[in-house]
Amino acid sequence: MPRLLLVSNRLPVTVKVEKDSVAVVRSAGGLATGLRRPHERSGGQWIGWPGDMSRLSESQRTRVEEQFAEQRYVPIHLTASEVSRYYEGYSNRVLWPLCHYMLDRIPRQDRDWEVYRKVNERFADLTAKQYQPGDTIWVHDYQLMLVPGMLRERLPEARIGYFHHIPFPSSEIFRTLPRREALLKGLLGADLIGFHTVSYVRHFSGSLLRQLSLDTDVDSIMWQGRQVRVGAFPMGIDSDSFDSLAKEVSVLEEVASLRRTAEGQRILLGIDRLDYTKGIPRRLLAVQRLLEREPAWRGRLRFIQVAVPSRTQVEAYATYREQVNELVGRINGQYGSVQNVPVHYLYRSFNEKQLAGLYRAADVMLVTPVRDGMNLVAKEFCASRPDEDGVLVLSELAGAADELNKALTVNPYDVESTADAIEQALEMGEHERRERMRALRAQVKAHDVHWWVSHFLGRLQGLPSVSVRDVKG
Ligand code: G6P
Repeated sequence: MPRLLLVSNRLPVTVKVEKDSVAVVRSAGGLATGLRRPHERSGGQWIGWPGDMSRLSESQRTRVEEQFAEQRYVPIHLTASEVSRYYEGYSNRVLWPLCHYMLDRIPRQDRDWEVYRKVNERFADLTAKQYQPGDTIWVHDYQLMLVPGMLRERLPEARIGYFHHIPFPSSEIFRTLPRREALLKGLLGADLIGFHTVSYVRHFSGSLLRQLSLDTDVDSIMWQGRQVRVGAFPMGIDSDSFDSLAKEVSVLEEVASLRRTAEGQRILLGIDRLDYTKGIPRRLLAVQRLLEREPAWRGRLRFIQVAVPSRTQVEAYATYREQVNELVGRINGQYGSVQNVPVHYLYRSFNEKQLAGLYRAADVMLVTPVRDGMNLVAKEFCASRPDEDGVLVLSELAGAADELNKALTVNPYDVESTADAIEQALEMGEHERRERMRALRAQVKAHDVHWWVSHFLGRLQGLPSVSVRDVKG
């Protein structure tokens, strides 16, 4: 197996400090789980930002650096200004809303581009320094769109892959970005560019044609004498791990206790990072609408909404939080009683075991983002239902809807129809619930995160190494 150089904005670990002790803890996210084994097996390096380490003492820092070296993590430390301009600024105030079709959220001034470019250059420099001939480089996500091109300049012969974890928008959206050409050319430095869905591949090809007059031939583009391949590689989750967590005795006890507190009620569940793409306000409005028009459900629904704090330094996220707080208060004020409130809103993070318990206890899972690259929560819910029960209500604007076609799909902008779908889910008979859940689980299991990694890397590593000849010729 060739050595892998993985490059992502965040390293797949978090540095936890408690009084005098400091520990490097593995993150639970999809990327971290899926790439752990290939990283260990290939003996390669993982290059990324370890988060803020400025508060560590000298000796703590040394201990952390030692652990990084042992696990072959190469940290890129960002200054406070880089965090604010590369990460919060260009990545999360410009590219994030752009790729999610929210042009109004993009600041009028293009202030942070230069810092984005410079930090991408730092990633490329460090990666090139680690590179040995024969290595495979895999760059991840929108924070690093210029890195493949910068690496190609430094390493004309390298095998480079890039995966875009968020939507790639229609060319009509992408064309509004002042730096559209530089970003497209940045991606074209890769040999293989992966997206979650066929639509994103089409949107990307549309942008290449419009901005660079490049024609895509099925799944390949000629660029500077090289063949660049594009393809859809829908990301999966570690479904076996959720499946076994959901069977653990302690989890089942938690499920039973949760169900006892909600006796006589049906449990609706939402779990999201608190992000304006996740459609939480409209989801709340749909629940409110249901209670308004169907008095029989009043007092009989418990909607648990978990919102995991995210990007709290970006104003749009703070404003969104206020908006959600306000709505939850309004609905509970209107439909709550002395014994009970309809919305149980939890602003905090949960570990995987706790999540598996919530998934397993739910009657209906609401995944209704107004735009989402894939949405792994929808898949985690299915994997956590070895009892083959529970109904998934899924936004048609999430990449996952392409695969999970046995979910009840909704247009999240249509509040009334979303309320209809919630009602349909609540009233669905056991036979239909099981039939749908069985099909959903089979899909999630067959296309898990390990399948995704080997599918992408298999394609990348199977490409003929024509780059050298073509570049030289
Ligand atoms: C999305 C992005 C990831 C990102 C994650 C969490 O899933 O595609 O690149 O890591 O959100 O966001 P954060 O800004 O905390 O890394």
